Amino acid sequence: MHSDFPIGVAIDINELYSNSLYKSIAIKQFNSVTPENIFKAEYLHPEPAFFDWTDADSLTNFCIANNKRLHGHTLIWHQQLPQWILNFQGNSSDWEQLIKTHIQTIVLHFKGKVTGWDVVNEAFNEDGTLRNTIWRQKIGAGYIEKAFIYAHEADPNVLLFYNDYNLESNPNKRNSVIGFLNNLRNRGIKIDGIGIQMHINILSTEATQVASALQSISNNDYQIHLSELDISVNPLGKDITPSQSLFTKQANLLGEIVLQYKQIPARYQYGITFWGISDKTSWIIDYFNREDYPLLYDDNYLPKPAYCKLKETL
Ligand code: XIL
Repeated sequence: MHSDFPIGVAIDINELYSNSLYKSIAIKQFNSVTPENIFKAEYLHPEPAFFDWTDADSLTNFCIANNKRLHGHTLIWHQQLPQWILNFQGNSSDWEQLIKTHIQTIVLHFKGKVTGWDVVNEAFNEDGTLRNTIWRQKIGAGYIEKAFIYAHEADPNVLLFYNDYNLESNPNKRNSVIGFLNNLRNRGIKIDGIGIQMHINILSTEATQVASALQSISNNDYQIHLSELDISVNPLGKDITPSQSLFTKQANLLGEIVLQYKQIPARYQYGITFWGISDKTSWIIDYFNREDYPLLYDDNYLPKPAYCKLKETL
């Protein structure tokens, strides 16, 4: 697929190992890769003094061999944590040491191979306040800036992102995130970009909302990664029949978003990453336990109208 900015995909390592059709689409259609799960703490750091690089290194080698940019997801999040972190006992400086070792061991391991990291993921509530995650409880609100500082120390060249959802639809949350990050920047902390996850849907997402989000974030001088794009056609979890009209709506919404993204200055376009290849293995179906068809390819790995729209709009 030709485009002026990277088009990425979240890779499920088990599909990559076992499904040759999946692998060939990943190679042919995308030029950036985000690990869907295997760079999360529970996979990379399963024991206090043990990091498991096996799958992560094989995905890294896949990216090198096939000339794909690798985007690291994610260093500090409150989900998919290993049991030992959930059970960790210590004072705030012990917790700080924990995140320092965690972040720096991982960032150093992938130095020169990962282009950008989601340093902190989903740290804000919908009302714009800070989410009371385990990190905030143990370290205080300063955990966010510390995470960025530690990551920067380990690799001064890697791009550092804050990543979250609903930033396109909830201006309150978005403004809080921007204000918070601007404050860190004013104190000399390097933050390169913002990931807008973009788990959106055909019922409530408006392209105009997305346009304002792109504008306000780029006006504040952050690169923008549409980092986990999928477009639900059944956000309410009803009994539905997948129809041409649903897929056309999905395709049109995607087309409008891509057009908006093309309008921001090139230096802010880190890229657009889809959160999977085929509807069949989208996280939406398991996670929300509903019928849905949010991606570019159908259950048989055939391209949907959204794929054609993407191709013609890029
Ligand atoms: C999801 C994965 O897709 C699932 O396989 C996993 O079970 C749960 O996490 N926001 C994020 C992603 O930042 O890491 C999540 O990925 C989806 C929501």
